Amino acid sequence: MTIQTVAVLGAGLMGRGIAYASSLAGYRTILEDSSAEALDRACDEISALLEKGVATGKVAGEDSIAARKRLTVTRSVEAAAAAADLVIEAVPETIELKLEIFAAVDRKAPPHAILASNTSSLSITEMAAATQRPARVVGMHFFNPVHRMRLLEVVRALETSDETIAAACEAGTKMGKECVIVRESPGFVTSRINAMIGNEAFYMLQEGVASARDIDKALKLGLNHPMGPFELVDLVGLDTRLAILRFLHRSLGDKFRPCPLLEQYVAAGRLGRKSGRGVYDYPPAS
Ligand SMILES: NC(=O)c1ccc[n+]([C@@H]2O[C@H](COP(=O)([O-])OP(=O)(O)OC[C@H]3O[C@@H](n4cnc5c(N)ncnc54)[C@H](O)[C@@H]3O)[C@@H](O)[C@H]2O)c1
Repeated sequence: MTIQTVAVLGAGLMGRGIAYASSLAGYRTILEDSSAEALDRACDEISALLEKGVATGKVAGEDSIAARKRLTVTRSVEAAAAAADLVIEAVPETIELKLEIFAAVDRKAPPHAILASNTSSLSITEMAAATQRPARVVGMHFFNPVHRMRLLEVVRALETSDETIAAACEAGTKMGKECVIVRESPGFVTSRINAMIGNEAFYMLQEGVASARDIDKALKLGLNHPMGPFELVDLVGLDTRLAILRFLHRSLGDKFRPCPLLEQYVAAGRLGRKSGRGVYDYPPAS
């Protein structure tokens, strides 16, 4: 099956990055969000990213112009789905919302279309069951920031066909990613390990073992992690991380119980870079 048009649902941190990679890969790309403001912001960021790519010599000028032309936006899930060969869902990490979106997309997308979720942890099999095409439902787990991170976890749900896995890998490769294929299990490979490290870091901060800066420094210089766990959670979003931990706690047991300090930060609106404050502060100019 030839993929020509990709619909990306949700224009937040991940959706806008996936739309950037998709349009630069040569796909006609439709970016959808229920919020007009999110779409405006996403377009500004994608344009800025393309300009930066040209300025640093990573993207050719004509490719940048062509990519921007291939990108359109809409506030209608149905309109986006109706035109797509591949739909990549990147709405917030709650199963109720994802099930609703998968059912709506399934009703409108062409029968050959593949429906993918960028979920960090939730069950692709459950999303597939909300559709009439479980063999064509797959996980495509991109990483943040999408334009820089090279991995794509392709997640095989219970009924995902080999053809669907191959098509997802082909699209990911065209978007410049290296693919690993993972059998569905809560948190796949990366989110499960990352959630464990990040949660443990919050417990250490809560217990006063060390400051946030020193915990980050210890993991970077002692364990060779490129970012500290608090720098990373501020980038990912504390709310997203908490949602993942709650799901892993429910599905894999007590070792994933979210740290109370993380719950408190989220309750206080300290969601990370996107809200200007997480574990660290991000003044508007930074
Ligand atoms: N943040 C990360 O680092 C990261 C990494 C990998 C995967 N993910 C996964 O990607 C998904 C999105 O995460 P994010 O960080 O981009 O979230 P986000 O909060 O930045 O963006 C979500 C977007 O979805 C939009 N939205 C909400 N309801 C909608 C609806 N009904 N229809 C259309 N749009 C709707 C919101 O307006 C928002 O713009 C989640 O499943 C998350 O687990 C996140």
